[in-house]
Amino acid sequence: MSFRALILGAAAGGGLPQWNCGCQNCRLARAGDVPAQSQSSLAVTANGADWAILNASPDIRQQFANSPPLHPTGLRESPVRAVLVTNGDIDHVAGLLTLRETQRYTLFATDGIHDVLAANPIFDALREGVVARQRIALDTPFALVPGLTATIFAVPGKVPLYMEGETVETEMMGEQTVGVELTAGTARAYYIPGCARVTDALRDRIEGAAAVFFDGTLWRDDEMIREGLGEKTGARMGHMSMSEPDGSIAAFEGLDVGRKVFVHMNNTNPVLRPGSDEREAAEAAGWIIGQDGMEIEL
Ligand code: MLT
Ligand code: MN
Ligand code: ZN
Repeated sequence: MSFRALILGAAAGGGLPQWNCGCQNCRLARAGDVPAQSQSSLAVTANGADWAILNASPDIRQQFANSPPLHPTGLRESPVRAVLVTNGDIDHVAGLLTLRETQRYTLFATDGIHDVLAANPIFDALREGVVARQRIALDTPFALVPGLTATIFAVPGKVPLYMEGETVETEMMGEQTVGVELTAGTARAYYIPGCARVTDALRDRIEGAAAVFFDGTLWRDDEMIREGLGEKTGARMGHMSMSEPDGSIAAFEGLDVGRKVFVHMNNTNPVLRPGSDEREAAEAAGWIIGQDGMEIEL
C-alpha cells in the first residue's frame, strides 16, 4: 500500500484558459505556449484500486478520460468509490452532475455543504439509493477509501459566491470551507484548496506532513485588479495570495513539510508560466507548481 495523489485539475474556477478571458496566460495557453490546466480536483488512493475524488470540477469528464487509473474496470464499474467536496463552490461541485449515471459511490461533505446541495434540486440527479450522501463532522476521522483515513477541519473561508448575502465574512471558521487530512499507514498529507489565512493552529496541524496541496489562487492579492479583470482582491474571494508578507509562501517558512504543492491556481497567476520570475521565486522557496496529471506518491 502506498498513498498516491493524482492532480486532476490544478487551476481554480475558470481553468486555464478561461472561456471569456484574454489575459496573458489565457492567450498563451490557447496558443499552446503554456500548459493548459483544468479546474480544481485531486484523486487519491492508498491501494491503487479504490480511488476518492476530492472536489468534483466541471472538467471531471475529461479529467477521468485523461487518467487511466480512473477508467472503468468493468462494464459499469468505476474505481471511484468516494467523492468529497471541501466547499460548495461551483468549481468543486458542478462535476457531481457528470457523476450521475447510476454509479454507486459515497458523497462526503459537512452538514453545511450537504444542506447547500440538498437545497438545489438539480443535484437530485444523484439518486437516493445510488449515491450515498454521508454527512461528516469536523475533526472526526473516517474511512474514505480502503487504507485511507480522512479528517476534515475548518479553515478560514467564506460561503460559496452564489450564496453570498449583503455582507460577507471572508475568514469564517466552520463547515463552509474545510481542509482534508489524509493518512495512509504512517504517511500524512493535506489537501487545502481554499484558505483565507494560515492560522497558528493550521501551522501546528501540518507540521511534519509528507505533502500539502495548498491554495495557490493568486500570486498577489490585487492581481485581478491590476490585470484589469475585476474588482475583487484575493482576500475578498476567501483566498490568501502566495507572495505577500502574510501570504502562503511566508506562512509555510520554517515548517517541516515534505512536498508543498500549489493547486487551485487562478489563470492570472504568473507562476503558471514556466520560467517566470514568480515561478522561480516559488520554486526557490521549495514549492512545486501543480499541474494536471502530476502524481505524487508517498
Ligand atoms: C473560488 O474559489 O473563490 C470560487 O471557486 C469562485 C467561483 O465560484 O467562481
Ligand atoms: Mn474555486
Ligand atoms: Zn485569463
